[in-house]
Amino acid sequence: MAAAPGGEAVLNVRDVERIAAGVLSPGAAAYYNGGAWDESTLRDNEAAFERWRFRPKVLVDVARRDLSVRVLGRLWPTPFGTAPMALMRLATPEGEGAAARACRDRGITYTLSTVASATIEEVAEVGGPRWFQLYTTPDADWTMSLVRRAEAAGYEALVMTVDAAPLGRRERDARVGLTLPPGVRYENLVVRPSAVGGGEGGPGHETGADGEDALSREGPQLYAKEFLKEALTPADLAWLVRESRLPVIVKGVLRGDDADAVVEAGAAGVWVSNHGGRQMDRAIASIDALPDVVQAVRGRVPVLFDGGIRRGMDALAALALGATAVFVGRPLLWGLAWDGERGAGAVLDMLTAELDLAMAITGVPRASSIDPSILVHADLAHLPRRIR
Ligand code: FNR
Ligand code: LAC
Repeated sequence: MAAAPGGEAVLNVRDVERIAAGVLSPGAAAYYNGGAWDESTLRDNEAAFERWRFRPKVLVDVARRDLSVRVLGRLWPTPFGTAPMALMRLATPEGEGAAARACRDRGITYTLSTVASATIEEVAEVGGPRWFQLYTTPDADWTMSLVRRAEAAGYEALVMTVDAAPLGRRERDARVGLTLPPGVRYENLVVRPSAVGGGEGGPGHETGADGEDALSREGPQLYAKEFLKEALTPADLAWLVRESRLPVIVKGVLRGDDADAVVEAGAAGVWVSNHGGRQMDRAIASIDALPDVVQAVRGRVPVLFDGGIRRGMDALAALALGATAVFVGRPLLWGLAWDGERGAGAVLDMLTAELDLAMAITGVPRASSIDPSILVHADLAHLPRRIR
């Protein structure tokens, strides 16, 4: 494991964040760390965890802990997965492959982004449990070609992101004039659907100098215009559920009524997320959105969660509020920037060890059955429980 520059101990995700800030290019740092507009949701995703307080239970035998949880029929060793994030080769030359290997070695499910800098097939070769995050394009054939590739490559679920069209305005990117360095491109979008048997005439770019250069030069805003369908409705979800052989999880839900609607439309999971504060600024903090969604879902499908997970304690709070599993976002990118595959793995290990310890001290030996009474919102913490 690489030491921090300067040799100080690297104990937690914050330490890794600081190291990453020193090594990422200005463009990558802006893209990874930025949020929409005033970045108030970006900040609040983390701050909101501080408003939930634990009520540790004592005299519980916690000598043996079980962090495993069951998600869509598979037993996960811990409640952690990794969130889909674009362009990991901005962090390390090995990009998505390095992150996927760190996950594979820990039995952690890796979610590959549509706008990754590695192909669906390359990441599948790593092995290990994997999901594919799908951006719905304006062209059904183009979208379906991505679905078929994910199915053929052994991805176990589709994560349909519904909160990112159009993309939010991230002013940090605008200030640095984000462009993609040579050799980093949206690998899954440079092949025409016809080349993979998915139909003719999609909006894909041919592999070749023109297509690549256009995609590379313009940065993330370009694919937003060309590849993100803004006219998304429940019919698109129903279509995907019908046409795909994989379970479809809907990512980017913040309201109970939406959660109920997507379950009704056939979603196999609901993923609570505000896209890491990158879409609607002043959107509710992710952890504060969770209880309403959990209540609306009523146990019909798993509720997945991301947004601001920086400590094992954050994961414990999400699990206590009813999440089935939690997804690590930016800390994975910081780990990659620090030390590639090893750095990514170290971040996952830190969070897992912290969760294990937090569970023990709070008196919950099993991650799959956390009593919600271990948590209270700080505004209510002084009231006796019977009148809260
Ligand atoms: C993202 N996120 C994201 N989500 C998605 O569905 N598809 C994607 O391609 C991306 N790309 C992406 C890039 C970068 C640089 C970031 C930081 C985030 C959102 C991601 O899945 C997740 O919702 C947030 O990152 C969670 O917030 P934190 O914990 O990372 O702050
Ligand atoms: C982002 C897109 C790629 O947040 O999801 O940058």
